[in-house]
Amino acid sequence: MYLSKEEEAILDGERGEGPRIAMGILAKVGDMYGAKRLIPVESAHVVESSYQLTGDSGIEVFDKLIEAGARVSVPTTTDPCAIDFERWREFRIDEGYAHKQIELANRIVRIGCAPTWCCTPYAHANVPKFGDHLAWSESNAVAYVNSVVGARTNRYCAYLDSMAAIIGKTPEFGLHLDENRRGTVVVRMKGISELRDEDYPVLGYYLGSELGNEIPVIMDMPKGANPDRLKALGAAGAAVGSLAMYHIVGLTPEARTLEEALGGDKPRDVVEFDRRALESTREKMCSASGGKVDLVATGCPHASLGHIQRLVRLMEGRRVKRGVEFWVSMSKYMERLIREMGYLDALTASGIRVIADTCCNNAPLRQWGFKTMVTDSGKYAYYAPTNLGVDVALTSLEGCVRAAVEGEL
Ligand code: F3S
Repeated sequence: MYLSKEEEAILDGERGEGPRIAMGILAKVGDMYGAKRLIPVESAHVVESSYQLTGDSGIEVFDKLIEAGARVSVPTTTDPCAIDFERWREFRIDEGYAHKQIELANRIVRIGCAPTWCCTPYAHANVPKFGDHLAWSESNAVAYVNSVVGARTNRYCAYLDSMAAIIGKTPEFGLHLDENRRGTVVVRMKGISELRDEDYPVLGYYLGSELGNEIPVIMDMPKGANPDRLKALGAAGAAVGSLAMYHIVGLTPEARTLEEALGGDKPRDVVEFDRRALESTREKMCSASGGKVDLVATGCPHASLGHIQRLVRLMEGRRVKRGVEFWVSMSKYMERLIREMGYLDALTASGIRVIADTCCNNAPLRQWGFKTMVTDSGKYAYYAPTNLGVDVALTSLEGCVRAAVEGEL
């Protein structure tokens, strides 16, 4: 990969050890992927904020970076941690574990990252615009900004995101390039005139599980897609597969027409998505079929204000049944907002717990001994059987409320 004189100088250590380490890694990755050059990024979003993901090695890596004088050079936000910093005791997290997470978080902030601890940076705190190059990890965020915003990022991995943040550049490969953003498979909606909230994660799961590394172009999409629905679609597809970008003809910014979405090429395949595919995919996503509910979880990806307002309305005059846990995950700044708006009190009064800075996937929660989980999130539905050891029922937010109030599926 070509390096400018200035980049060579960084590689030679003229700007210090931290940038030298970061540039060395970026140069190697660039060579590996056949990138021709480095390009500037507007921002980064890093996932190594979760101690659940990094373990002690995360603390060691950031100790080395701090010692080497590394600092991020572009706005950099952070993914959820493994604990709610205020409520970890309430969530039965081991004290030693919580302190390790706090140590890791402190180090990440010391290199200049913003302590957002949130997986929807595109909604607030780190909002990209069309055409921006980014170095983001967090698969739901990558799918969202590539597809819905038209910003450009690969699915970065832990630490590579930080290296790009330190240099403020990334090798130009993958989804940074026009030719790799074109749709490759057309997905035609057949006999589907309406999609409800709970259908979007199912469609996403279908795309992620059936289409491998292809970039889907969805045609004849029913009206009604909104940011929360597209967020749910991308999160499910990116969790179960490698979905990093999709187009919806007439809706997403690089797909004003089918021709534009395909970049003038012929699709490798055309598949039909009908009611049968929708229902059989939904079935695959559910392992629980009935009986007592232990945990109801929503807010994956982290809940938007609109989602929380709907939840508050649905819970009006109702209460979570004794013996059932109902958790909603969100960022700490969303929590601050809903506290001031009175929604936090309303949620708490109805028996719902807010879990901020983290989520059911990032926090170690097996000690709760849950057996059955109900969720409206395709991403939770995919990870919870492994992470929490539960059977999962996927439903709507209304279905979540019903299950929490009745305690039964
Ligand atoms: Fe976010 Fe956790 Fe879901 S990181 S996307 S709430 S699994």
